[in-house]
Amino acid sequence: MNSGDKKYFDALMDKIAVSGTAYHANDAPIITDAEYDALRREANAILAEHPELGEAAQVLEAVGAEPAAGFRKVRHSEPMLSLDNAFGPEDFADFCAKIRRFLGLDATPLHFVAEPKIDGLSISLTYEEHKFIRAATRGDGSEGEDVTKNLLTLQALPRTLPKDAPDQIEIRGEVYMNKADFLALNDSQERKFANPRNAAAGSLRQLDAGITAKRKLAIFAYAQGKSSTPVATTHWGYLQKLKAWGFSVNPLSRQITEAQAEEFQTEIGIGRAELPYDIDGVVYKINDLALQTRLGFVGRAPRWAIAWKFPAERAVTTLLDIEIQVGRTGALTPRAKLTPVNVGGVLVQHATLHNEDEINRKDIRIGDTVELQRAGDVIPQIIRPLLELRPKFAKLFSFPTHCPVCGSIAVRDTDEAVRRCTGGLICAAQITERLIHFCARGAFDIEGMGDKTVLEFYHAGLLKSAPDIFKLHEHETEIAEREGWGKTSAAKLSAAIEARRTIPLPRFIYALGIRRIGENNAKLLARHYGSYENWRASMEAATEIGSDARLELGSISGIGLTIATDLAAFFSEQHNLDTVDALLQHLTITDAQTSGATASPLSGKTIVFTGTLATLARPEAKAKAESLGAKVTESVSKKTDYVVVGTDAGSKAVKAAELGLTVLTEAQFRELAGI
Ligand code: IVH
Repeated sequence: MNSGDKKYFDALMDKIAVSGTAYHANDAPIITDAEYDALRREANAILAEHPELGEAAQVLEAVGAEPAAGFRKVRHSEPMLSLDNAFGPEDFADFCAKIRRFLGLDATPLHFVAEPKIDGLSISLTYEEHKFIRAATRGDGSEGEDVTKNLLTLQALPRTLPKDAPDQIEIRGEVYMNKADFLALNDSQERKFANPRNAAAGSLRQLDAGITAKRKLAIFAYAQGKSSTPVATTHWGYLQKLKAWGFSVNPLSRQITEAQAEEFQTEIGIGRAELPYDIDGVVYKINDLALQTRLGFVGRAPRWAIAWKFPAERAVTTLLDIEIQVGRTGALTPRAKLTPVNVGGVLVQHATLHNEDEINRKDIRIGDTVELQRAGDVIPQIIRPLLELRPKFAKLFSFPTHCPVCGSIAVRDTDEAVRRCTGGLICAAQITERLIHFCARGAFDIEGMGDKTVLEFYHAGLLKSAPDIFKLHEHETEIAEREGWGKTSAAKLSAAIEARRTIPLPRFIYALGIRRIGENNAKLLARHYGSYENWRASMEAATEIGSDARLELGSISGIGLTIATDLAAFFSEQHNLDTVDALLQHLTITDAQTSGATASPLSGKTIVFTGTLATLARPEAKAKAESLGAKVTESVSKKTDYVVVGTDAGSKAVKAAELGLTVLTEAQFRELAGI
């Protein structure tokens, strides 16, 4: 990925974090749900193409939609995941190639189950002792809303399961509304839903289940949650069981080989318009469940499935204005304000313009009629202005050279596409965005400290930097007297902050908002250094170029030299050290746990793989070691516990011998890893 695209991606991630917080912490969305979803999907799409950005997937995880007040929260026994996207045969081929690489397969064709991707909302159904006991929405993937009562209004939902079903089983699927029922519903009421998916979501998430009962909702079952005993050995077998148990399983689902996917995709695409319900692509899932288990997950999505989306929908509208948004890192991002237009069932009012070069390259002017595209629900993009329709008054946009928020000069480094505000600590936008990040999910996750509250307190002078958060209780009376507050909510906020005075190391690292340190990288660092003290000392030592500490940091698998430089840059700034020290006055930081697998002999060990392994491809070996709590690094040092040596191992094996390290054969590694 070139640096321009990277900047664009960073800006996109910033925006998701801000809008997500605005939405779920304050119920004060700054963009529409559809736009928010589109942002996330776009980020997912970019992530799917650029695995090197994998850590950002964790940021996405942090900012899911939080349960709406009123429904009981339900913690999913296994996270409800999303899917990576493909937009064409090349993407699909890449997906297959990655699977082969991970598993170390040669040319063996892969076998899939292909299913239409239903445009509804996912649901988890729990059965205990063969009785339906609970339904939950996906929520943020870890925690959803209890919609059991609402689901009970669906006639088609099996209330009991036959004897051959496990005693305890969670079944997942999609609740949707047929197109005809959506149109009829919109006809019958003032409030119009933008599309069947929104109508389904709005109808299901009714506190009064009586309203849900009046709406015609349907359900397709298609995925597994936890179950007390295995149901099948293939996904196809699983679907057959679901059907036998009375669930509705999509009749267009097929078992196919890799080579048949493109044809299937075309076939479903052609039939799409005639289907009674909306679909936005086809999901391809590895059929063999044992292979699914081996493949596992990256971030939010399984390695064993992909959603191949249908091509973009297009529309034409006018560009009313170009707005500039300032993100946490100071990036100035232009956004098109449009005359609202319906693009493939979604009302679009904004589109991304990426950066100033993009505006110039496409020669986009304010007042232009523009062609828009929305691909598989990703954020709408402006393809081109329709020059023949350009009005005389169309105005060239001059990209600001100063931050629209703080007025500081905004500079663009020679190799960068993004212009950044240089205001740093004096830029209200950057300060508040950083504070919002600090309080958000995945970081300190302080309930009630969403972006509205952060902005309010910032402007009231109660909050200037993160350590101030932990002094807010001193102002509780003052807060209680503020408009919209009151004693109860002020006390609730103090309690929510109090509850976060003890914080796990990975969250603390992530909360600092260091460039490129998303949740995943924060976890890697925490796992590697173990304790705050060790991490802090190592980071300060790593500010020196060429130091052992810097080399160690750069050799952590998944971190690398660029990120090491970002960390060093952060710790070279005295004001950052001061802020971290000030925070420490208020906090207890708990040590990182090695991913729940302390029982494993690999837990806490530092491992280097070198040479070719005969039975395990490197990615799978690495993922396995990490899942058992090991740290995998790229270079051998005296801190390395095990060097796993395959055939044709080179200098690393030599160095291991020189240092007298424990060298493992592949078979010994498999034994230690319990494979
Ligand atoms: S499988 C671990 N199958 O798409 C994979 N998902 O973008 C779990 N969806 O959250 C999902 N049709 O709401 C799967 N046949 C299908 C689907 C499907 C629609 C939705 C689902 C999921 C989203 C991911």
